Amino acid sequence: MTDHMPDDLSAAGRDMRAYTDELRPRHGVARNVDGEWVLLRHELVVQAALSDDRFSSAVSSHLHVPNGMDSAEHTAYREALDRFLTPEALAPFREKFRRVAADLVASLPRGVAVDAVSQVGVRFAVRAQSAWLGWPADLEDRLVDWVAENHAATRSGDRSWTQRVAESFDDLIRSVLEPRRGAARDDDTDDVTAQLMRTEVNGRPLTDAEIVSVLRNWTGGDLGSIAQCVGVLVHYLATHPAVQDRLRSGVSDAEIDAIINEILRIDDPFLSNRRVTTCPVRIGGVEIPQGARVKLNWTSANRDEAAFGDPDALDPERNADRNLVYGIGKHACPGRLLATMEMRIALQELLAATSSIVLEPQQPAERAVSPVGGWAKVAVVLA
Ligand code: HEM
Repeated sequence: MTDHMPDDLSAAGRDMRAYTDELRPRHGVARNVDGEWVLLRHELVVQAALSDDRFSSAVSSHLHVPNGMDSAEHTAYREALDRFLTPEALAPFREKFRRVAADLVASLPRGVAVDAVSQVGVRFAVRAQSAWLGWPADLEDRLVDWVAENHAATRSGDRSWTQRVAESFDDLIRSVLEPRRGAARDDDTDDVTAQLMRTEVNGRPLTDAEIVSVLRNWTGGDLGSIAQCVGVLVHYLATHPAVQDRLRSGVSDAEIDAIINEILRIDDPFLSNRRVTTCPVRIGGVEIPQGARVKLNWTSANRDEAAFGDPDALDPERNADRNLVYGIGKHACPGRLLATMEMRIALQELLAATSSIVLEPQQPAERAVSPVGGWAKVAVVLA
């Protein structure tokens, strides 16, 4: 029996979660139209993520710090960068994020449709990330436009458009770095961006290209992720009133974090990451040649019946150990604490300032289509 799908099957234009739910029972490994080998089952995704010697992250000819690095080089950059994302480093931002969330929620209209993705998720993600990095508030609209264009370019599959969008983001980042050059040298401005500009790896300061790449990975990809996650979370609460009530009843931070992680496991909008094989590999009964492109499909792995039973059953305690929303292994998400803190605060403020969140019945929620996950639009009414 062949264990991979025919090459002409494509996820384009489809809801990736629904599509991989169909494929996963029959195929542990699938082959997409781009010739990539897609790992769909939990066990296989974990295996590949942990075998980083055979599944390299050096998938791109462009610089990606630290995402596109392997081995000792990757470890050195992670050590230098992870210190920005520890509980101690993030604690001072808690109140800033709370203010951002409270102001945003206060500005949302009551009794009419509000889109949880564009009006809540994207705005909150951009404002919270800017507060963290020390970026000026007047960049907000440019960043919001960038998130939308990045999604559109990714969806189109047009590589030259994706490239132009990436370059426009780099220009935006450079405009943030420029005024900090003097200040960064003088130690006057001590925001996260200025600290990053002073960071050393292997005894030498980061180059300009490296700083831009780090900021691109900290913001470019993750503004979109946090925005999509907020859309998933609000949709879940609007459609699961018992869970909404439970969160309204004043649960601890740890409990709300566990519920957030579990909702995101059920509907993980961060779809996949790439690898390239460094040698011929046999995985899931399939022979993959050296130099082949492989995708770790987190969304599918997080719903694998073999690991979780009913993928839609909310069971934070039982499923926490197997949850792959933030990946696993050396490349596991360094931004997990920041992302969790931001989403927890966004939900707490949204719940504190409302007595109910329901779907707007006239405007059905729309799923996002591959290669974007989660929801494209979630119209809710706040009361
Ligand atoms: C809810 C939001 C987020 C989700 C679901 C998420 C998910 C992930 C996942 C699954 C990986 C593993 C990638 C791999 O194995 O190739 C990852 C890596 C990464 N994430 Fe996140 N992330 C989120 C937010 C953030 C934030 C806020 C930051 C930074 C401020 C961040 C920075 C990174 C970086 C730099 C990597 C690459 C790490 C490496 O290659 O060593 N992420 N993320």
